[in-house]
Amino acid sequence: MTTTKGEKPGEALEETLDPLDWGEFRGLAHRMLDRIIDLQEDIRSDPAWRPVPPAIHERFFSGPPRAGQGAEGAYEDFLETVLPYPTGTLHPRFWGWAGGTGSPLAMMAELLGAGMNMLPGNFNDAGARVELQLVNWMKEALGFPASGSGVLTSGGSVANLVGLVVGRDACSGFDVSEVGVQESADRLVMYASSEVHSSVYKAAKLMGLGKTGVRIVPVDDDFRMRTELLEEMISKDRLAGLRPFAITGTAGTINTGSVDDLDRIADIAEREGLWFHVDGAFGAMAGLSPETAGRVNGMERADSLAFDFHKWMYAPYEAGCVLIRDPEAHRHSFTVSASYLKPLSRGPGSWVDAADKRGPQLSRGFKALKVWMSLKEQGFDKFGRLVAQNVRQAMYLGGLIDASANVQRKAPVSLNVVAFRYEVPGADPEALDDLNRELLMRIQERGIAIPSSTVLNGQFVLRVCICNHRSRREDFDALVEALETIGREIHGESLT
Ligand SMILES: Cc1ncc(COP(=O)(O)O)c(C=O)c1O
Repeated sequence: MTTTKGEKPGEALEETLDPLDWGEFRGLAHRMLDRIIDLQEDIRSDPAWRPVPPAIHERFFSGPPRAGQGAEGAYEDFLETVLPYPTGTLHPRFWGWAGGTGSPLAMMAELLGAGMNMLPGNFNDAGARVELQLVNWMKEALGFPASGSGVLTSGGSVANLVGLVVGRDACSGFDVSEVGVQESADRLVMYASSEVHSSVYKAAKLMGLGKTGVRIVPVDDDFRMRTELLEEMISKDRLAGLRPFAITGTAGTINTGSVDDLDRIADIAEREGLWFHVDGAFGAMAGLSPETAGRVNGMERADSLAFDFHKWMYAPYEAGCVLIRDPEAHRHSFTVSASYLKPLSRGPGSWVDAADKRGPQLSRGFKALKVWMSLKEQGFDKFGRLVAQNVRQAMYLGGLIDASANVQRKAPVSLNVVAFRYEVPGADPEALDDLNRELLMRIQERGIAIPSSTVLNGQFVLRVCICNHRSRREDFDALVEALETIGREIHGESLT
C-alpha cells in the first residue's frame, strides 16, 4: 500500500498516483525521453513497418491488472509490446492513406501540454488563448477573413461534420438546430463529387440525413467534380421537391489529390443560396506556399473550410480544424446553455473563449500547443516550403514511374498524391488486381515503404500520398526499384 508523505500513525491512509520517490521517477522519465528521441533520430535505419508477432499479439488479451506492477514494470511492457510495432508514420518512406509524420518538437509539446493537464477552450487560461491565436493564424495563412470563427477538432472527419452541421442549420430554410431535421417536409440534401472522402457520408449519417442525403456528382477524367452536372442536379432536385442546402468541394481528394474547381463551385453555391464547404483535409495546406497556392484557388471563398494539422502540417496525431466564415451561424449550431457553465466575471470560470459553443466537445485536450509551438519553432514559411517540396517529390515520383518499364501512372499528379500500378500487357484484369495487391503487401511487409491502395476506374491501384517532411528523392528511387523488382518476382511466380 502506498502512503502519503507526512502521514501520522493512526490516520486513514490516503493514496495518490504521484510517485513516492520523485528522484526515482525523474530518472525513469529521463530514460523514457531518451528512448523516444532515439526512435525519432534513428528512424531511417528502421524498417518502415513490422508486423506484431503472434506471441506479442497474445499478450494484449490478458485480463485487467488488479494490482499495479509499478512504473518500471509498465514501461518494460511498453518497450516490449508497443514501441517496436508503430504504424510506421514516422518513417521517411511512409506515404499511406494521408498519414502525417509528426515532429520532435511537437512531440515534446504534447508532453508539456499533458504535463499541465490543460483543459483549454472554456476557461480563463493560457490554453484558450493559444488555440484562439492558432485559429487566427490559420485564417490569415489560408486567406480566410479575420472576422471568421474556427475550432480545433480531433481531425478532418469531425471538422467536416462541424462545417456541414453549421451549413445545414444556416441554409435549410428552417431552424434545424432548434427543431430537428424531421420538421422538414422536404428531404434535405447536399452535394459532393464521387471522389469525396467517406467522412462526408459519415457526417450525413450523423446529421440525420442518411448516406443518401449526399447527392453524388460524377467526376471528369482528372477526378474533378463535373460542375455542369452539379448545376443540373440541383435544379432537377429542386423540381423533384428535395431541399438542397450545401455543396462540398474537395481540395485534395484522398484517391488522387485532385482539386475540384472551387471557384466555380463557390459561384454556384452563391447563386443557389447554398453553403459552400471545402474539405481540405490535407490539400488546404497547398495554400501555405506561393508555389502551390494557385492549385487550391477558390478555397478562401468557402463558408466552412476543414483541414488537418496531423496530415500535411506534420503534427503528431491528433489535431484538425474547421474555419467558419460566419461566427454567429457557427455559435448558433452548437450553443446549449447550462447553469453550471455560466461564466463568472472573474476567476478560471470567466471564460475568454467558449469552445463548447463552436463544436460538439466540452472537455478537450490541448491539441493546439504542439502546432502553435511548431509554428513558432519553424515559421509558416518553412511549412510552405515543405509542402512545396512534397509536391515536387510527387512530380519526381510521377516522372520516375512514367520512365519505368512496367509501372504505369493512373491519375494526373495534382498535388502530393501519385496513383499507379504494375502492368502486364494482355493480363487478365482480376489477376492484375491480385498481382498489385500482393505487390503492395510485400513492399509493406518487407519494411521497404508504406504506400496504400484504392480503386480507380474499377482497377486496384497503389497510391502514395506524401505528407512527410523526412522523405528524400532517394526514397522514391528505392520505391520504384522495389516496384519493378517485386512486380517481376510476383509475375514470375504466377507464370510458374
Ligand atoms: C480528403 C480527406 N477528408 C477527410 C479525411 C478525414 O480526416 P481524419 O482522418 O483526420 O478524420 C481524410 C483522411 O484521410 C481525407 O483525406
